[in-house]
Amino acid sequence: MTGVDVDAVRARFSALNGSFAFFDAPGGTQVPDEVGDAIARTMRQASGNVGAVYPASKAVEAVANEARQLAAQFAGASVDEVIFGANMTSLNFTLSRTFGRTLKAGDEILVTRLDHDANVAPWLELAKDKNLMVRHVDVLSDTTLDFDDLQAKLSDRTRAVAFPWAANSVGTITDARRVADLAHQVGAIAWADAVQYAPHLPMDLPAVGVDVVLFSAYKFCGPHLGIGYGRRDLLESWAPYKARPAPLHPAGARFETGSMPIETLGGFSAAIRYLTSIGGMNAIAAWEKELASRFLAGLPEETIRYGLASTEGRVPIFLLNLPGVPPADAVLRLAEHGIGVWSGTNYYSLGLYERLAWGEAIRVGIAHYNTLDEIDKLTEVLTSLARHAPGRKSQSPQLGPGDMFPLDLLPDDLKDNAGALERPAVVYFYPKDGTDTCTRQAVEFSRRAPQFFEAGLALVGASVDTADSHREFAEEHGLSFTLLSDEDQRLAAAAGVLRDYGEYGTLAGRVTFLLDRSGHVSQVWEVEDVIANVADVLTAGAKLAATEGSK
Ligand SMILES: Cc1ncc(COP(=O)(O)O)c(C=O)c1O
Repeated sequence: MTGVDVDAVRARFSALNGSFAFFDAPGGTQVPDEVGDAIARTMRQASGNVGAVYPASKAVEAVANEARQLAAQFAGASVDEVIFGANMTSLNFTLSRTFGRTLKAGDEILVTRLDHDANVAPWLELAKDKNLMVRHVDVLSDTTLDFDDLQAKLSDRTRAVAFPWAANSVGTITDARRVADLAHQVGAIAWADAVQYAPHLPMDLPAVGVDVVLFSAYKFCGPHLGIGYGRRDLLESWAPYKARPAPLHPAGARFETGSMPIETLGGFSAAIRYLTSIGGMNAIAAWEKELASRFLAGLPEETIRYGLASTEGRVPIFLLNLPGVPPADAVLRLAEHGIGVWSGTNYYSLGLYERLAWGEAIRVGIAHYNTLDEIDKLTEVLTSLARHAPGRKSQSPQLGPGDMFPLDLLPDDLKDNAGALERPAVVYFYPKDGTDTCTRQAVEFSRRAPQFFEAGLALVGASVDTADSHREFAEEHGLSFTLLSDEDQRLAAAAGVLRDYGEYGTLAGRVTFLLDRSGHVSQVWEVEDVIANVADVLTAGAKLAATEGSK
């Protein structure tokens, strides 16, 4: 008994009509038609503003009131403790600033290594302005919060403990009650980012005792809207940044500046009604656990997983790698098979990224509208990709420092009469346009092209994709350097950067070479962090050009 009738659920989403399987919920969910309809209906029936005596204005007021009531119910809070904002990040900047008015130089804020930066950056900015100290609480090796470290860092200077109720990178849940109790013991407040918790588990805020909680409706089938909750006495003690005639009551509303996004609130109410109608958060949690168990059981055994091993203590967000398969290749292949997952570097979780150093990884997020068949399709493709990992096969070896690059395959206009390069060259490969990382890389090289030229370098972008898509890409981004189309894959093969996925085709790795003028490889980079990589390539290239010069 799952508690969620997933076929009936899916019938309510036009977006889920086709065969595409969405496993990108941590980035944002699909939305049932009734939410879009409610937004349109609100605009038809309740446009204008609150405050007038006639029915249209009363209708606007009713929409806002209902949204506030449903938000309160959803979190187990009371109506006057609800605060709406543009999104979680904006709301967090607003509320932390407001709270900041009560702080003085030397006060301390604790954040954690598990946090999304939306719950770290606001405190760092505030700290700069008010001379506060932000301290980072560590995680244990299994990605759970290190409560010993939290206790060690708490002191009578601590004013707030900001933490993620569930981590957007690896899904780890933090015991919010325990954080709140520890914070309260030193007179600090507990400040939870529930953006990735709210879509998966029921919240009972008074029971948990957290003082401020923030979440975001587009992560649970609603429109883009930030929702906050603050303990009433706390909210009443803060001095809001507000227009003077704007009302002070209810307590939460004093932090909402200007007119409300009334149509969005109409959509938000529809989303909450939708979640209730399919069984509520308990039923959703039970169904998602079944999906997550199936997913874990179906993963190829060689999968490298980051985070907790089982479905316990987590929401269904998984970060992983397949040995020998670059994540950007994997997600491109998955997309071609009608499966949407992300590859990325830090996922805005800078603290955990620094600690676990996964480089680039695949993030799979499960939502209640996923089916067991979709999970099976996902794990089948992942298994097949792992079995076809290029590392398992004999590949032509990648050229290393000192090796001769296949200069004959580079265009003649880069060379002098004797066949040497006019200037040292940077040759970078990108697998195919459309993958996030290679696009970012091409854009970053393009943005920095003048610096490469100024440093005395030639810049060559080479792809295994068709000529046309790259010419178009070049035009769109104003690329002004040599672009090779390598559809026959000769250059990539000769440089040893092809990755053969068997039935899944061939991709070029994201590899960058620095060549001296004689055509020998001076340095090689496997691209992981595009921005850092391009900067490194430029530094090394400029050094080489300074010693070698150009003709
Ligand atoms: C854990 C977490 N916190 C905060 C945010 C930021 O939310 P918003 O986009 O509503 O600002 C996200 C977005 O992905 C998130 O996953």
